[in-house]
Amino acid sequence: MKVVLNGQLVEREEAKVDIEDRGYQFGDGIYEGIRVYHGKMFTFDEHMARLYRSAKLIDLEIPYTKDELEEQLYAMLEANQLDSGVVYLQVSRGTQAPRNHVYLPETKAVLMATSMAAPRDPAAFEKGITAVTAVDDRWLHCDIKSLNLLGNIMAKNQAAKAGADEAILYRDENHVTECSHSNVSIIKDRTLITHPADNLILNGITRQTILKLAKENDIAIEERIFSVDELKNADEVFISSIMAEVTPVTAIDGETIGDGKRGPLSAELEEYFVAEIEKNCGITL
Ligand SMILES: Cc1ncc(COP(=O)(O)O)c(C=O)c1O
Repeated sequence: MKVVLNGQLVEREEAKVDIEDRGYQFGDGIYEGIRVYHGKMFTFDEHMARLYRSAKLIDLEIPYTKDELEEQLYAMLEANQLDSGVVYLQVSRGTQAPRNHVYLPETKAVLMATSMAAPRDPAAFEKGITAVTAVDDRWLHCDIKSLNLLGNIMAKNQAAKAGADEAILYRDENHVTECSHSNVSIIKDRTLITHPADNLILNGITRQTILKLAKENDIAIEERIFSVDELKNADEVFISSIMAEVTPVTAIDGETIGDGKRGPLSAELEEYFVAEIEKNCGITL
């Protein structure tokens, strides 16, 4: 298994970083997860735009251009003969000793990337998932894809302990934001309602793709805040992420959503999503 470390393709076992890396000590860094279908990185440009934006917002310089990263990542995918899977890429601010909150300009960013095989699971997209609601007590820069994921981790584990698949987060009863590692949207009277892309959510690349496809197919969209009550009384609820695509939520806090099955608009959106993958990756799924 090959991985990328600071521009080099190396064996996984040989890839080492320093114990005083700021990513390890402070979570001082950013990351991306990119879906790969048939060896091709889906919506690569959008992921790179978000990566460089996150970097800018934390005053971190990525020492490679987008084209250089593309070359490095494809070299890794080829070496690992990855067909369907996922690329994880992270950039930390690098090694700085002694540990200090103040980062120094000479600290060199450390970039690593791994790949993992992950076949698509259309049956799971049809079956759907269960969720619990959980308080969103994260910081106020959720638009940055930061390595600091403690709030997300605690929420996801709260869901797991309750026997549910995902945690849907809310700031207060009137304000649902997103999930621990996905975005959430609701459908009411064939209108797709989802949180605006502000500082309180990560603007998912899948979310962006779904909104684009909804617009192209004349589905009404409202990017606005909605309440826990609206969430539970929606006709359909779905989560989205690079792995989930359009996955329906069939029950929340033990309460059934709609008729407890994937709804028609969620199914329709997933069809458009599949067509978009096929068009962009030159494959038939
Ligand atoms: C908090 C959060 N929101 C939303 C998403 C969905 O983003 P994407 O569609 O780019 O996978 C993720 C994915 O990691 C996430 O961690």
